[in-house]
Amino acid sequence: MGQKKYTIVTHGCQMNEHDSEKISWLLENMGYEWTDNKEESDFIIYNTCLVRENAELKVYGQIGALKSIKKENPDLIIGICGCMMQMEEIRNIILTKYPHVDIIFGTNNIHKLPQLMDRYKQTKDTVVDIVEDNREIVEAVDANRKYDFKAFINIIYGCNNFCTYCIVPYTRGREKSRKPENILEEVKSLAAEGYREITLLGQNVNSYGKTLSLNYSFADLLTEINKVDGIERIRFMTSHPKDLSDELIYAMANLDKVCEHIHLPVQSGSNRILKAMNRRYTAEDYIKLIEKIKNAIPDIAITTDIIVGFPGETEDDFNDTLELVKAVRYDSAFTFLYSVREGTIAANMDNQVDDSIKHDRFQRLLDTLYPIFYEQNLKYKNKVVEVLVEEVSKNNDKMLTGRTRTGKLVHFEGYKDLIGKLINTRITEIKTFTLGGHMV
Ligand code: 5AD
Ligand code: SF4
Repeated sequence: MGQKKYTIVTHGCQMNEHDSEKISWLLENMGYEWTDNKEESDFIIYNTCLVRENAELKVYGQIGALKSIKKENPDLIIGICGCMMQMEEIRNIILTKYPHVDIIFGTNNIHKLPQLMDRYKQTKDTVVDIVEDNREIVEAVDANRKYDFKAFINIIYGCNNFCTYCIVPYTRGREKSRKPENILEEVKSLAAEGYREITLLGQNVNSYGKTLSLNYSFADLLTEINKVDGIERIRFMTSHPKDLSDELIYAMANLDKVCEHIHLPVQSGSNRILKAMNRRYTAEDYIKLIEKIKNAIPDIAITTDIIVGFPGETEDDFNDTLELVKAVRYDSAFTFLYSVREGTIAANMDNQVDDSIKHDRFQRLLDTLYPIFYEQNLKYKNKVVEVLVEEVSKNNDKMLTGRTRTGKLVHFEGYKDLIGKLINTRITEIKTFTLGGHMV
């Protein structure tokens, strides 16, 4: 018999993507080998997301479709993990409607996967193992990373903010920071392996350090990481506007490796809606903050998340969002239709917005945003910018793609031995979502 094969299907955010890299590391240590092909897999695992309904529904569809594969191959082991599994009601749906699922675990006990696999192999009964709170951070799991030049690193888990639309505080639990020495050790060992770019991950990186009682802030962490030889670019996400300090802006402006990009979700431009969302800032506060950031770091790219159709959103509220995006001039944005998440405060608000209105506003938001993205990109015309080369282009193997420090995707001609290198490109072509250039 050949080597056992596994596949992982990942939904959701970078946090989940990085968790899947950890699962992959565990499985490869158990002797499993990656495959893209579900039919030849011995173990298939779904790392799930609960932030919006469509991500949830997709998983039910995908798990349902495995029933026939499992019939053909009864030795196939099926696992589900991630945010959906942190919710008891959802675990019960899986247990009753999808009995062909073998292993269920959550976001706080990934490290136990080898044990859970053994338990399943011995009993052949569905194994369910959930840790409700994330009080303990397990440092023992490494990651089998997708790239060998850029890496995700967790710095803070969970979220204390309870934005009224969001399920994350219920799935990922309370905020908890990793110790700076553990983070620095990981950064240094990645640098020694040749990694050049790191992205520090957390639901709210600006709160980093608060649970440690060390008097150590996110800016302190950036300052320490900036000293690590070999690391050339430092990124982070996500930031909450209410916690973004002057100290952090100062650090971003003065630390040479911290990239000129900030992802700063605004969610809405209406003060009434921001209040109902429990965001704890006003549109005016947000715009002032953006001005401060732009003054300190003139070339910075600003990206955001926006929700349309939050309960009670009127045409006036929506227009405030349009006005805000015009004032800020975003480089890019993730836009979402508000999705009811059972268990959150907003799910019980009685003034839900009609789907047709939501869709209409969503389109109008995109119509406002896209010309702004294009105009922001026009600033790059004929400029020479540094790019970290990432991949061969999907539809042309002589074309490469890379990212600027500001996070813009650049297409240019070149050979694949440049992947992982920092090169300079002159930008000649401007599009809404990408730039085109030539190596110089
Ligand atoms: N509906 C729509 N979008 C949501 N987000 C979080 N919860 C919801 C929801 N219930 C969006 C927010 C957040 C991003 C990760 O997902 O914009 O910043
Ligand atoms: Fe959700 Fe708000 Fe926490 Fe972000 S800050 S994870 S939107 S509750």
